[in-house]
Amino acid sequence: MAKDINSDVFPEETKLKLSIFRECFKEWFPVFLNNGHIEKIFIYDLFAGSGKDSEGTSGSPLILLQETKGENGKYCEQVYKNNNKPTILFGFNEKVKKKFFLLKENVENELKSCEKTCPLGKCILSENCYIDNKDFKELIQSQSFLNILQNRKFGKFILLDQYGFKHITDNVFLKLVYSPFTDFIFFISSSFIRRFKDEPAVNAYFKKENIKFDEEKPNECHREIAKYFKALIPKEKEYYVHNFTIKKGANYYGLIFGTNHSLGMEKFLTVCWKQDPLAGESNCNIDNDFEEGTLFFNPTNTNKIQMVKNKIKEKIKNGIIRDNLTGLRYALSEGCRPKLFVEVVDELLKMKKITIVGKINRTASSVHKAKKYEISVL
Ligand SMILES: C[S@@+](CC[C@H](N)C(=O)[O-])C[C@H]1O[C@@H](n2cnc3c(N)ncnc32)[C@H](O)[C@@H]1O
Repeated sequence: MAKDINSDVFPEETKLKLSIFRECFKEWFPVFLNNGHIEKIFIYDLFAGSGKDSEGTSGSPLILLQETKGENGKYCEQVYKNNNKPTILFGFNEKVKKKFFLLKENVENELKSCEKTCPLGKCILSENCYIDNKDFKELIQSQSFLNILQNRKFGKFILLDQYGFKHITDNVFLKLVYSPFTDFIFFISSSFIRRFKDEPAVNAYFKKENIKFDEEKPNECHREIAKYFKALIPKEKEYYVHNFTIKKGANYYGLIFGTNHSLGMEKFLTVCWKQDPLAGESNCNIDNDFEEGTLFFNPTNTNKIQMVKNKIKEKIKNGIIRDNLTGLRYALSEGCRPKLFVEVVDELLKMKKITIVGKINRTASSVHKAKKYEISVL
């Protein structure tokens, strides 16, 4: 049985994971809050734990509550003034009874202490805060959850901080991928899958022929797991997945994020590149770059940046990328911020390798709103 994460002090790696959850949600929430088509926002934490570590540090459910309020309660105020629109709902779930009761207590206390300083007189969050004690398997298969997932007027943020790897199966992953207005992030123990990939305990969940671990590069095992999930998505579907490797001792764990909107990916990549200026992808210098404080450290030209820039150049040369929209989305799909594509275009223009058909623009954020231009190779 896995050690109870909440019974001790969160180690640094767990704090990093929680900080990515926090930043990711902080980026996500206002986008959905300010989308006039969204009637309800569902915030799910389906492996919620008890809410705190042994020192009282907030775990994921409390982090979600804190960030939903916003700085000085600004989001609560916005919703309150807008006659409770959109409705905000929390779904916290924890299977272990003892932890579930603690979770209830911790959530109630968090809301009570928040109400003490709340100027609104009525808490808009506590009314729709549901805490459950189910097995994830049961929840994910329930018709009521599916109805919410499928509703195009509902925005969904889904946190799946499982122990191990067994709960996010191919089917669960695809169910989330095919849910509109749904972004999700899950945790997975990639080292364990690598170590035991030939054992039934693992290959009952993953088709091992679709995972190609490089024995020489254990640090890339989470990348491989992310590739496995990416490969499940049909080629014609516009969908974005990114991964973040967390090294703890000799083991590699990681996060996998999924969104069907380029803006969701832009936001998540901002969080990841802030954590890891070398590759936007790990806490362990995954591509063996020169590190900060060393003579050749150059965050503008790391191995990942060079590799993706070269891929973009190659694709422009071969006519696979023929316009800026394809190029910007390609940079995102490679886990890089769209500005990388703009830098490559500027470079190729300077070297007179390409010309632009139409009016050039250097839009490198909110790329779904970018105006299209075409690229012609000279
Ligand atoms: C990694 S911990 C979550 C920690 C939490 N996110 C936090 O920040 O404190 C995983 C939690 O999932 C619970 N759990 C294990 N199996 C479960 C299942 N089948 N369904 C729901 N919860 C489960 C465990 O009891 C544990 O508290």
